[in-house]
Amino acid sequence: MDKFRIVGGTPLNGEVQVSGSKNSALPALAACLLTHEPVTLRRIPQVKDIITMEKLLAFTGAAIQDGSGTVEVHARSLEKPEAPYDVVKTMRASSLVLGPLVARTGRARVSMPGGCAIGARPINLHVQALEQLGASIEQSYGYVEAQAPDGLRGGEIHFDRITVTGTEDVLMAAVLARGETVISNAAREPEVQDLANLLTKMGAQIEGAGTSTIRVAGVERLHGADHTVIPDRIEAGTFLLAGAISKGELIVNGCVPEHVWALVIKMRQAGAEVEEIDGALRVRCSRRPKATDVTTEEYPGFATDLQAQYMAWMATAQGISFVTETIFENRFMHALELARMGANIRIEGRQAIVAGEEKLMGAQVIASDLRASASLVLAALVADGETIIDRVYHMDRGYERIEGKLASVGAKIERIQ
Ligand code: EPU
Repeated sequence: MDKFRIVGGTPLNGEVQVSGSKNSALPALAACLLTHEPVTLRRIPQVKDIITMEKLLAFTGAAIQDGSGTVEVHARSLEKPEAPYDVVKTMRASSLVLGPLVARTGRARVSMPGGCAIGARPINLHVQALEQLGASIEQSYGYVEAQAPDGLRGGEIHFDRITVTGTEDVLMAAVLARGETVISNAAREPEVQDLANLLTKMGAQIEGAGTSTIRVAGVERLHGADHTVIPDRIEAGTFLLAGAISKGELIVNGCVPEHVWALVIKMRQAGAEVEEIDGALRVRCSRRPKATDVTTEEYPGFATDLQAQYMAWMATAQGISFVTETIFENRFMHALELARMGANIRIEGRQAIVAGEEKLMGAQVIASDLRASASLVLAALVADGETIIDRVYHMDRGYERIEGKLASVGAKIERIQ
Protein backbone atom coordinates (compact mmCIF):
# COMPACT_ATOMS: atom_id res chain seq x y z
CA MET A 1 0.00 0.00 0.00
CA ASP A 2 1.38 3.41 -0.97
CA LYS A 3 2.23 6.03 1.63
CA PHE A 4 3.20 9.68 1.48
CA ARG A 5 6.30 10.98 3.19
CA ILE A 6 6.02 14.71 3.77
CA VAL A 7 8.56 16.98 5.43
CA GLY A 8 6.80 20.08 6.69
CA GLY A 9 7.82 23.68 7.02
CA THR A 10 8.19 24.86 3.43
CA PRO A 11 5.79 27.61 2.29
CA LEU A 12 4.11 26.73 -1.01
CA ASN A 13 4.83 29.30 -3.72
CA GLY A 14 3.83 29.37 -7.37
CA GLU A 15 0.91 28.26 -9.50
CA VAL A 16 -1.17 25.09 -9.54
CA GLN A 17 -3.77 23.97 -12.06
CA VAL A 18 -7.11 22.55 -10.98
CA SER A 19 -8.28 19.32 -12.66
CA GLY A 20 -11.79 18.47 -13.81
CA SER A 21 -14.38 17.81 -11.14
CA LYS A 22 -14.60 14.20 -10.00
CA ASN A 23 -18.13 14.72 -8.73
CA SER A 24 -19.20 16.20 -12.08
CA ALA A 25 -17.40 13.58 -14.13
CA LEU A 26 -19.10 10.67 -12.32
CA PRO A 27 -22.71 11.63 -13.17
CA ALA A 28 -21.58 12.76 -16.64
CA LEU A 29 -20.24 9.26 -17.30
CA ALA A 30 -23.47 7.72 -15.99
CA ALA A 31 -25.48 10.03 -18.27
CA CYS A 32 -23.75 8.48 -21.30
CA LEU A 33 -25.87 5.37 -20.67
CA LEU A 34 -28.96 7.35 -21.71
CA THR A 35 -28.16 7.33 -25.43
CA HIS A 36 -27.16 4.78 -28.02
CA GLU A 37 -24.95 7.44 -29.65
CA PRO A 38 -21.33 8.22 -28.62
CA VAL A 39 -20.74 10.97 -26.04
CA THR A 40 -17.38 12.70 -25.63
CA LEU A 41 -16.47 14.04 -22.21
CA ARG A 42 -13.47 16.28 -21.66
CA ARG A 43 -11.43 17.36 -18.64
CA ILE A 44 -12.13 14.05 -16.95
CA PRO A 45 -9.70 13.68 -14.04
CA GLN A 46 -7.54 10.58 -14.02
CA VAL A 47 -8.44 9.31 -10.57
CA LYS A 48 -9.46 5.95 -9.17
CA ASP A 49 -13.20 6.68 -8.86
CA ILE A 50 -13.37 7.51 -12.56
CA ILE A 51 -11.66 4.25 -13.49
CA THR A 52 -14.19 2.44 -11.29
CA MET A 53 -17.12 4.18 -12.99
CA GLU A 54 -15.68 3.34 -16.42
CA LYS A 55 -15.43 -0.32 -15.40
CA LEU A 56 -19.04 -0.19 -14.32
CA LEU A 57 -20.18 1.29 -17.66
CA ALA A 58 -18.17 -1.36 -19.50
CA PHE A 59 -19.84 -4.06 -17.38
CA THR A 60 -23.26 -2.87 -18.57
CA GLY A 61 -22.14 -3.18 -22.19
CA ALA A 62 -20.87 0.32 -23.06
CA ALA A 63 -17.65 0.80 -25.03
CA ILE A 64 -15.19 3.22 -23.42
CA GLN A 65 -12.18 4.99 -24.88
CA ASP A 66 -10.12 6.89 -22.37
CA GLY A 67 -7.20 9.02 -23.49
CA SER A 68 -5.59 11.60 -21.21
CA GLY A 69 -8.60 13.47 -19.95
CA THR A 70 -10.97 12.83 -22.86
CA VAL A 71 -13.33 9.91 -22.56
CA GLU A 72 -15.67 8.64 -25.25
CA VAL A 73 -18.53 6.43 -24.15
CA HIS A 74 -20.64 4.55 -26.65
CA ALA A 75 -23.56 2.75 -25.02
CA ARG A 76 -24.99 1.34 -28.26
CA SER A 77 -26.75 -1.45 -26.40
CA LEU A 78 -26.79 -2.36 -22.73
CA GLU A 79 -26.86 -6.11 -22.26
CA LYS A 80 -26.38 -6.08 -18.50
CA PRO A 81 -28.10 -3.15 -16.77
CA GLU A 82 -26.46 -3.98 -13.49
CA ALA A 83 -23.99 -2.59 -10.92
CA PRO A 84 -22.43 -5.49 -9.04
CA TYR A 85 -21.37 -5.39 -5.40
CA ASP A 86 -17.64 -5.57 -6.21
CA VAL A 87 -17.84 -2.19 -7.92
CA VAL A 88 -20.33 -0.48 -5.63
CA LYS A 89 -18.46 -1.38 -2.46
CA THR A 90 -15.47 0.68 -3.55
CA MET A 91 -17.49 3.65 -4.79
CA ARG A 92 -20.90 4.61 -3.48
CA ALA A 93 -21.53 6.95 -6.40
CA SER A 94 -22.20 3.77 -8.43
CA SER A 95 -25.85 4.24 -7.48
CA LEU A 96 -25.80 7.03 -10.11
CA VAL A 97 -26.40 4.40 -12.79
CA LEU A 98 -29.75 3.34 -11.31
CA GLY A 99 -31.75 6.17 -12.90
CA PRO A 100 -30.12 6.06 -16.36
CA LEU A 101 -30.32 2.25 -16.61
CA VAL A 102 -34.01 2.01 -15.72
CA ALA A 103 -34.85 4.97 -17.97
CA ARG A 104 -33.02 3.53 -20.95
CA THR A 105 -33.67 -0.22 -20.60
CA GLY A 106 -36.72 -0.46 -18.31
CA ARG A 107 -34.77 -2.38 -15.69
CA ALA A 108 -31.77 -2.02 -13.42
CA ARG A 109 -30.13 -4.07 -10.72
CA VAL A 110 -27.77 -2.13 -8.49
CA SER A 111 -26.01 -3.34 -5.38
CA MET A 112 -26.93 -1.31 -2.30
CA PRO A 113 -24.09 0.73 -0.90
CA GLY A 114 -23.26 0.05 2.75
CA GLY A 115 -21.93 2.60 5.20
CA CYS A 116 -18.52 4.17 4.85
CA ALA A 117 -16.01 6.08 6.92
CA ILE A 118 -18.03 9.30 6.77
CA GLY A 119 -21.38 7.81 7.78
CA ALA A 120 -24.33 5.80 6.50
CA ARG A 121 -24.82 6.29 2.78
CA PRO A 122 -28.43 5.23 2.19
CA ILE A 123 -30.12 5.55 -1.21
CA ASN A 124 -33.71 5.54 0.05
CA LEU A 125 -34.30 9.00 -1.45
CA HIS A 126 -33.10 7.85 -4.89
CA VAL A 127 -35.45 4.86 -4.65
CA GLN A 128 -38.50 6.89 -3.54
CA ALA A 129 -37.94 9.43 -6.30
CA LEU A 130 -37.70 6.76 -9.00
CA GLU A 131 -40.90 5.18 -7.66
CA GLN A 132 -42.59 8.57 -8.20
CA LEU A 133 -41.62 8.19 -11.86
CA GLY A 134 -43.40 4.83 -12.04
CA ALA A 135 -40.53 2.41 -11.44
CA SER A 136 -41.39 -0.56 -9.27
CA ILE A 137 -38.52 -1.25 -6.95
CA GLU A 138 -37.66 -4.19 -4.78
CA GLN A 139 -34.77 -4.55 -2.43
CA SER A 140 -33.50 -8.05 -1.85
CA TYR A 141 -30.25 -9.94 -1.31
CA GLY A 142 -28.31 -6.67 -1.07
CA TYR A 143 -29.57 -5.40 -4.42
CA VAL A 144 -32.05 -2.75 -5.56
CA GLU A 145 -34.02 -4.04 -8.55
CA ALA A 146 -35.97 -1.49 -10.55
CA GLN A 147 -38.48 -2.33 -13.28
CA ALA A 148 -40.35 -0.05 -15.64
CA PRO A 149 -41.19 -2.28 -18.63
CA ASP A 150 -43.46 0.36 -20.21
CA GLY A 151 -41.04 3.20 -19.52
CA LEU A 152 -41.08 5.88 -16.83
CA ARG A 153 -43.65 8.66 -16.60
CA GLY A 154 -43.16 12.19 -15.32
CA GLY A 155 -44.08 12.91 -11.71
CA GLU A 156 -43.75 15.30 -8.83
CA ILE A 157 -40.80 14.65 -6.57
CA HIS A 158 -40.07 16.38 -3.32
CA PHE A 159 -36.85 15.40 -1.59
CA ASP A 160 -37.26 15.22 2.20
CA ARG A 161 -33.64 16.25 2.47
CA ILE A 162 -31.26 17.59 -0.10
CA THR A 163 -29.26 14.90 -1.85
CA VAL A 164 -26.72 15.62 -4.56
CA THR A 165 -26.46 12.26 -6.31
CA GLY A 166 -30.15 11.60 -5.57
CA THR A 167 -31.06 14.75 -7.53
CA GLU A 168 -28.68 13.72 -10.32
CA ASP A 169 -30.00 10.17 -10.44
CA VAL A 170 -33.64 11.17 -10.79
CA LEU A 171 -32.82 14.00 -13.20
CA MET A 172 -31.20 11.46 -15.52
CA ALA A 173 -34.29 9.25 -15.25
CA ALA A 174 -36.75 12.11 -15.79
CA VAL A 175 -35.22 13.25 -19.08
CA LEU A 176 -36.49 10.05 -20.79
CA ALA A 177 -39.80 9.80 -18.86
CA ARG A 178 -43.11 10.54 -20.60
CA GLY A 179 -44.46 13.96 -19.63
CA GLU A 180 -43.30 16.57 -17.15
CA THR A 181 -41.33 16.04 -13.92
CA VAL A 182 -40.93 18.62 -11.19
CA ILE A 183 -38.15 18.05 -8.65
CA SER A 184 -38.43 20.23 -5.57
CA ASN A 185 -35.90 20.66 -2.77
CA ALA A 186 -33.34 19.68 -5.41
CA ALA A 187 -29.61 20.01 -4.76
CA ARG A 188 -28.19 23.27 -6.15
CA GLU A 189 -24.58 22.11 -6.39
CA PRO A 190 -22.63 23.23 -9.50
CA GLU A 191 -22.24 19.55 -10.37
CA VAL A 192 -26.03 19.22 -10.76
CA GLN A 193 -26.02 22.22 -13.08
CA ASP A 194 -23.12 20.78 -15.06
CA LEU A 195 -25.01 17.51 -15.50
CA ALA A 196 -28.09 19.43 -16.68
CA ASN A 197 -25.90 21.26 -19.22
CA LEU A 198 -24.63 17.96 -20.59
CA LEU A 199 -28.14 16.46 -20.73
CA THR A 200 -29.41 19.57 -22.52
CA LYS A 201 -26.65 19.16 -25.13
CA MET A 202 -27.89 15.56 -25.52
CA GLY A 203 -31.38 16.86 -26.33
CA ALA A 204 -33.03 16.94 -22.88
CA GLN A 205 -35.42 19.72 -21.89
CA ILE A 206 -34.54 21.00 -18.42
CA GLU A 207 -35.28 24.24 -16.62
CA GLY A 208 -34.15 25.46 -13.22
CA ALA A 209 -31.02 23.34 -12.64
CA GLY A 210 -28.93 25.16 -10.05
CA THR A 211 -32.09 26.22 -8.18
CA SER A 212 -34.12 24.12 -5.78
CA THR A 213 -36.90 23.46 -8.33
CA ILE A 214 -36.00 21.64 -11.53
CA ARG A 215 -38.54 21.07 -14.29
CA VAL A 216 -38.01 18.44 -16.94
CA ALA A 217 -40.08 17.80 -20.05
CA GLY A 218 -39.33 14.21 -21.02
CA VAL A 219 -38.17 13.42 -24.55
CA GLU A 220 -38.30 10.14 -26.46
CA ARG A 221 -34.59 9.80 -27.05
CA LEU A 222 -31.31 11.57 -26.47
CA HIS A 223 -28.36 11.88 -28.83
CA GLY A 224 -24.57 12.15 -28.60
CA ALA A 225 -22.80 15.28 -27.35
CA ASP A 226 -19.42 16.79 -26.56
CA HIS A 227 -19.01 18.26 -23.09
CA THR A 228 -16.23 19.60 -20.88
CA VAL A 229 -16.87 19.10 -17.17
CA ILE A 230 -16.40 21.95 -14.69
CA PRO A 231 -13.19 22.36 -12.67
CA ASP A 232 -13.03 20.61 -9.31
CA ARG A 233 -14.09 23.10 -6.64
CA ILE A 234 -13.00 20.83 -3.80
CA GLU A 235 -9.52 20.44 -5.24
CA ALA A 236 -9.39 24.23 -5.70
CA GLY A 237 -10.42 24.75 -2.08
CA THR A 238 -7.84 22.21 -0.91
CA PHE A 239 -5.10 24.16 -2.73
CA LEU A 240 -6.27 27.48 -1.25
CA LEU A 241 -6.00 25.95 2.21
CA ALA A 242 -2.61 24.38 1.34
CA GLY A 243 -1.28 27.83 0.40
CA ALA A 244 -2.62 29.35 3.61
CA ILE A 245 -1.57 26.62 6.06
CA SER A 246 1.97 26.53 4.64
CA LYS A 247 2.15 30.35 4.96
CA GLY A 248 2.91 30.69 1.28
CA GLU A 249 1.56 32.44 -1.79
CA LEU A 250 -0.27 30.26 -4.26
CA ILE A 251 -2.16 30.96 -7.46
CA VAL A 252 -4.90 28.42 -8.08
CA ASN A 253 -5.50 28.43 -11.83
CA GLY A 254 -8.46 27.17 -13.80
CA CYS A 255 -11.03 27.27 -11.01
CA VAL A 256 -14.45 28.92 -10.88
CA PRO A 257 -14.09 31.38 -7.95
CA GLU A 258 -17.86 31.54 -7.38
CA HIS A 259 -17.88 27.79 -6.65
CA VAL A 260 -15.58 28.20 -3.63
CA TRP A 261 -16.97 31.50 -2.38
CA ALA A 262 -18.15 30.22 1.01
CA LEU A 263 -14.59 29.05 1.72
CA VAL A 264 -13.02 32.26 0.41
CA ILE A 265 -15.16 34.33 2.78
CA LYS A 266 -14.18 32.16 5.75
CA MET A 267 -10.51 32.31 4.81
CA ARG A 268 -10.64 36.10 4.62
CA GLN A 269 -12.32 36.26 8.03
CA ALA A 270 -9.54 34.07 9.38
CA GLY A 271 -6.92 36.48 8.03
CA ALA A 272 -5.84 35.03 4.68
CA GLU A 273 -5.70 37.33 1.65
CA VAL A 274 -7.64 35.71 -1.17
CA GLU A 275 -7.99 37.62 -4.43
CA GLU A 276 -9.59 36.88 -7.74
CA ILE A 277 -7.29 37.39 -10.70
CA ASP A 278 -8.45 36.45 -14.24
CA GLY A 279 -10.38 33.28 -13.46
CA ALA A 280 -7.80 32.27 -10.87
CA LEU A 281 -7.57 32.76 -7.13
CA ARG A 282 -4.45 33.91 -5.34
CA VAL A 283 -4.02 33.13 -1.67
CA ARG A 284 -1.47 34.73 0.62
CA CYS A 285 -1.13 34.14 4.32
CA SER A 286 2.02 34.75 6.29
CA ARG A 287 0.60 34.26 9.81
CA ARG A 288 -1.38 31.77 11.84
CA PRO A 289 -5.10 32.18 11.12
CA LYS A 290 -7.58 33.65 13.60
CA ALA A 291 -9.89 30.93 14.90
CA THR A 292 -13.08 31.15 12.79
CA ASP A 293 -16.13 28.91 13.19
CA VAL A 294 -17.65 27.05 10.29
CA THR A 295 -20.80 25.00 9.72
CA THR A 296 -21.11 22.76 6.69
CA GLU A 297 -24.18 23.20 4.51
CA GLU A 298 -25.45 22.30 1.10
CA TYR A 299 -24.29 24.55 -1.76
CA PRO A 300 -23.90 27.52 -1.73
CA GLY A 301 -22.97 26.96 1.93
CA PHE A 302 -19.62 25.72 3.17
CA ALA A 303 -18.93 22.33 1.55
CA THR A 304 -18.69 19.25 3.78
CA ASP A 305 -15.97 18.08 1.38
CA LEU A 306 -13.75 20.94 2.64
CA GLN A 307 -14.48 20.54 6.34
CA ALA A 308 -11.56 18.21 7.10
CA GLN A 309 -9.04 20.41 5.27
CA TYR A 310 -10.37 23.54 6.98
CA MET A 311 -10.10 21.82 10.36
CA ALA A 312 -6.40 21.15 9.70
CA TRP A 313 -5.90 24.90 9.16
CA MET A 314 -7.89 25.76 12.30
CA ALA A 315 -5.74 23.32 14.26
CA THR A 316 -2.94 25.87 13.74
CA ALA A 317 -5.10 28.94 14.53
CA GLN A 318 -4.90 31.47 17.32
CA GLY A 319 -7.89 30.75 19.51
CA ILE A 320 -10.71 28.22 19.62
CA SER A 321 -13.00 27.46 16.70
CA PHE A 322 -16.14 25.36 16.37
CA VAL A 323 -16.43 23.20 13.28
CA THR A 324 -19.96 21.84 12.86
CA GLU A 325 -20.80 19.07 10.41
CA THR A 326 -24.45 18.91 9.36
CA ILE A 327 -24.34 16.76 6.22
CA PHE A 328 -22.75 13.49 7.34
CA GLU A 329 -22.99 12.06 10.85
CA ASN A 330 -19.50 10.65 11.17
CA ARG A 331 -17.16 12.89 9.26
CA PHE A 332 -14.59 13.60 11.98
CA MET A 333 -12.24 10.62 11.65
CA HIS A 334 -9.44 12.98 10.62
CA ALA A 335 -9.66 14.76 14.00
CA LEU A 336 -8.22 11.74 15.80
CA GLU A 337 -5.32 11.52 13.36
CA LEU A 338 -4.72 15.28 13.50
CA ALA A 339 -4.52 14.86 17.28
CA ARG A 340 -1.61 12.45 16.73
CA MET A 341 0.15 15.38 15.11
CA GLY A 342 -0.39 17.58 18.14
CA ALA A 343 -3.76 19.12 17.26
CA ASN A 344 -6.06 19.87 20.18
CA ILE A 345 -9.55 18.83 19.08
CA ARG A 346 -12.53 17.65 21.09
CA ILE A 347 -15.53 16.08 19.37
CA GLU A 348 -18.97 16.63 20.83
CA GLY A 349 -21.62 15.07 18.62
CA ARG A 350 -21.66 16.96 15.35
CA GLN A 351 -19.27 19.62 16.57
CA ALA A 352 -15.50 19.67 16.77
CA ILE A 353 -13.98 22.15 19.19
CA VAL A 354 -10.56 23.03 17.86
CA ALA A 355 -8.07 24.83 20.07
CA GLY A 356 -5.35 26.08 17.76
CA GLU A 357 -1.76 25.09 18.50
CA GLU A 358 1.33 27.04 17.56
CA LYS A 359 3.02 23.93 16.30
CA LEU A 360 1.95 20.61 14.78
CA MET A 361 4.42 17.74 14.77
CA GLY A 362 5.12 15.13 12.12
CA ALA A 363 3.82 11.64 12.97
CA GLN A 364 2.68 8.40 11.40
CA VAL A 365 -1.00 8.72 10.55
CA ILE A 366 -3.66 6.81 8.64
CA ALA A 367 -6.04 8.29 6.08
CA SER A 368 -9.64 7.14 6.61
CA ASP A 369 -11.36 8.66 3.58
CA LEU A 370 -10.71 10.91 0.63
CA ARG A 371 -11.03 14.34 2.27
CA ALA A 372 -9.54 13.13 5.58
CA SER A 373 -6.39 12.24 3.65
CA ALA A 374 -6.26 15.75 2.18
CA SER A 375 -6.56 17.17 5.67
CA LEU A 376 -3.60 15.10 6.87
CA VAL A 377 -1.52 16.21 3.87
CA LEU A 378 -2.24 19.86 4.73
CA ALA A 379 -1.31 19.36 8.37
CA ALA A 380 1.89 17.60 7.31
CA LEU A 381 2.87 20.57 5.11
CA VAL A 382 3.18 22.78 8.18
CA ALA A 383 4.18 20.20 10.81
CA ASP A 384 7.64 20.03 12.28
CA GLY A 385 9.61 17.15 10.80
CA GLU A 386 8.41 14.13 8.85
CA THR A 387 4.88 12.78 8.50
CA ILE A 388 4.09 9.39 7.01
CA ILE A 389 0.50 9.08 5.76
CA ASP A 390 -0.71 5.52 5.27
CA ARG A 391 -3.56 4.37 2.96
CA VAL A 392 -3.16 7.13 0.39
CA TYR A 393 -5.34 5.05 -1.95
CA HIS A 394 -8.15 7.12 -0.45
CA MET A 395 -6.48 10.25 -1.85
CA ASP A 396 -5.99 8.56 -5.22
CA ARG A 397 -9.76 8.10 -5.46
CA GLY A 398 -10.27 11.81 -6.02
CA TYR A 399 -7.12 13.92 -6.39
CA GLU A 400 -5.25 13.81 -9.69
CA ARG A 401 -1.43 13.71 -9.41
CA ILE A 402 -1.65 15.44 -6.04
CA GLU A 403 1.93 14.83 -4.98
CA GLY A 404 3.24 16.10 -8.34
CA LYS A 405 1.15 19.25 -8.11
CA LEU A 406 2.17 19.99 -4.52
CA ALA A 407 5.84 19.23 -5.21
CA SER A 408 5.79 21.66 -8.17
CA VAL A 409 5.04 24.52 -5.75
CA GLY A 410 7.69 23.54 -3.25
CA ALA A 411 6.17 20.84 -1.01
CA LYS A 412 8.56 18.16 0.16
CA ILE A 413 6.33 15.21 -0.59
CA GLU A 414 7.08 11.80 -2.01
CA ARG A 415 5.16 8.60 -2.54
CA ILE A 416 6.69 5.50 -1.02
CA GLN A 417 5.59 1.99 -1.82
N1 EPU B 1 -29.09 10.72 2.27
C1 EPU B 1 -30.14 9.93 2.68
N2 EPU B 1 -30.78 9.15 1.74
C2 EPU B 1 -30.40 9.16 0.43
C3 EPU B 1 -29.34 9.97 0.02
C4 EPU B 1 -28.69 10.75 0.97
O1 EPU B 1 -30.49 9.92 3.86
O2 EPU B 1 -31.04 8.44 -0.36
C5 EPU B 1 -28.38 11.56 3.26
C6 EPU B 1 -26.91 11.17 3.39
O3 EPU B 1 -26.72 10.10 4.27
C7 EPU B 1 -26.27 12.45 3.84
C8 EPU B 1 -27.13 13.52 3.17
O4 EPU B 1 -28.33 12.88 2.78
O5 EPU B 1 -26.39 12.55 5.24
C9 EPU B 1 -26.51 14.17 1.95
O6 EPU B 1 -25.99 13.17 1.09
P1 EPU B 1 -25.92 13.32 -0.48
O7 EPU B 1 -26.85 12.33 -1.08
O8 EPU B 1 -26.07 14.74 -0.88
O9 EPU B 1 -24.44 12.83 -0.74
P2 EPU B 1 -23.98 12.05 -2.03
O10 EPU B 1 -24.78 12.49 -3.17
O11 EPU B 1 -23.88 10.61 -1.71
C10 EPU B 1 -22.23 13.79 -2.88
C11 EPU B 1 -20.75 13.79 -3.15
C12 EPU B 1 -20.00 13.72 -1.83
C13 EPU B 1 -20.41 14.94 -1.00
C14 EPU B 1 -21.93 14.96 -0.81
C15 EPU B 1 -22.42 16.20 -0.08
C16 EPU B 1 -20.60 12.73 -5.31
C17 EPU B 1 -20.20 11.56 -6.12
N3 EPU B 1 -20.43 12.64 -3.99
O12 EPU B 1 -22.49 12.57 -2.18
O13 EPU B 1 -18.61 13.79 -2.14
O14 EPU B 1 -19.78 14.90 0.25
O15 EPU B 1 -22.58 14.92 -2.09
O16 EPU B 1 -22.05 17.35 -0.76
O17 EPU B 1 -21.04 13.72 -5.84
C18 EPU B 1 -16.33 13.41 -1.81
O18 EPU B 1 -16.13 13.82 -2.96
O19 EPU B 1 -15.39 13.22 -0.99
C19 EPU B 1 -17.69 13.13 -1.38
C20 EPU B 1 -17.97 12.34 -0.34
